[in-house]
Amino acid sequence: MNILIIGNGGREHTFAWKIKQSNLCENLFVAPGNAGTAAIAQNIPIAADDFEKLGQLCIDQKIGLVVVGPEAPLVNGIRDFFDNHPQLKTIPMVGPGKAGAQLEGSKDFSKQFMLRHGIPTAKAKTFSASEISQAIKYLDTCTPPLVLKADGLAAGKGVIITESKSEAKQALTEMLVDKKFGAASTKVLVEEFLSGIELSVFVLTDGKDYIILPEAKDYKRIGEGDTGPNTGGMGAVSPVVFATADFMKKVEERVVKPTISGLQQEGIDYRGFIFIGLMNCQGNPYVIEYNARMGDPETQAVLPRIKSDIVPVLLAAAAGQLKRETIEVTHETAVTVVMVSGGYPGDYEKGKIINGLNSPVDALVFQAGTKRIGENIGTDGGRVVAISGMGSNLATALEKAYQGVAKLSWEGLYFRKDIGQDLLNFQPDASAKF
Ligand code: AMP
Ligand code: GLY
Repeated sequence: MNILIIGNGGREHTFAWKIKQSNLCENLFVAPGNAGTAAIAQNIPIAADDFEKLGQLCIDQKIGLVVVGPEAPLVNGIRDFFDNHPQLKTIPMVGPGKAGAQLEGSKDFSKQFMLRHGIPTAKAKTFSASEISQAIKYLDTCTPPLVLKADGLAAGKGVIITESKSEAKQALTEMLVDKKFGAASTKVLVEEFLSGIELSVFVLTDGKDYIILPEAKDYKRIGEGDTGPNTGGMGAVSPVVFATADFMKKVEERVVKPTISGLQQEGIDYRGFIFIGLMNCQGNPYVIEYNARMGDPETQAVLPRIKSDIVPVLLAAAAGQLKRETIEVTHETAVTVVMVSGGYPGDYEKGKIINGLNSPVDALVFQAGTKRIGENIGTDGGRVVAISGMGSNLATALEKAYQGVAKLSWEGLYFRKDIGQDLLNFQPDASAKF
């Protein structure tokens, strides 16, 4: 069958790499893709938000499965566009419709959803611009750290955590009144701070049944020791030592099951990934956020651990027939290190030639912000390449990942040298201390 992946990041290169290994995949297309996907699939220069052209591509190329990588087309209703189109509605798609994608597209919606279905999460109050004076008064009653969240999509920048009430008040005014994040900050949540250790859990569902994929830990901050501004993610590790069987059982019973049944009760036909950002607070899971897609760079650590062919599972999820499907997961550890352009997540230059991409390496190299520049491949974004090392334990996986990292160079390149270090000597019961 012919398969289309929508997106252009490291996550989509990883999906392409995994799907390409399936005997079921005849022709693989990525729209718009990057230089990495161009090497293993056919890139089509159509933007992820151009539903008309993506639909026409599916008709022209007789696409039998669409996998939507990023959140924006989901939140903007690519699924609904296909469902309402006579020639597209029968094409299986992995990714929820607009209603389901609200779990990511509106933090107020997802908070109310969790409250309706008894899913553990931080307490929060939502304010709109007309309620600015109440919001400021409310902040005065809160104990820092204070957590402010723009309701809508803000490219990972919509969360502000501060110890200072005056900073929180200023940030709140900028968001609500000055519309710092445009329509995304029309509403803002003031949320209770959760103290603990984070992990990401991934669920593939057809709206009724589900498969829990390997979990991962993401390293969000730009600086070593988790310092500096948030990024899209600077590294990932899977499995996560503190995600014990006991903890994952709690996640399944308290979070995954009520989430799926909540979607069903609300008449939301959700077929796709649910990425659950969790805080492990003294051994109990609390949901920080939902995403309607896989994580990046978590995908680069999670998919290499799945031994089974992923295409039948994706097809079953899209067709509402996940009940009979299972996946086989390797016990090996995967470590992903993201290499970025100097200056990221602030301003950075593009178009730097990447050296070493053809060097032999005992690791997986997933490209993100890359493009062909003549004979070479150059940088074309903040996050440029993700290297995933696999090993029988964390130390070996780390060694392989960083050996892979050492093969690549470009002007201004930066990466964190401490990915996974916090987990090396982690005692499983240490999470109880957080
Ligand atoms: P989000 O965009 O909701 O994932 O938030 C970005 C990051 O902010 C999360 O990954 C957490 O590290 C942090 N964060 C969000 N909400 C909270 C909270 N209630 N308590 C503590 N940290 C939080
Ligand atoms: N790595 C976090 C995300 O994909 O949102």
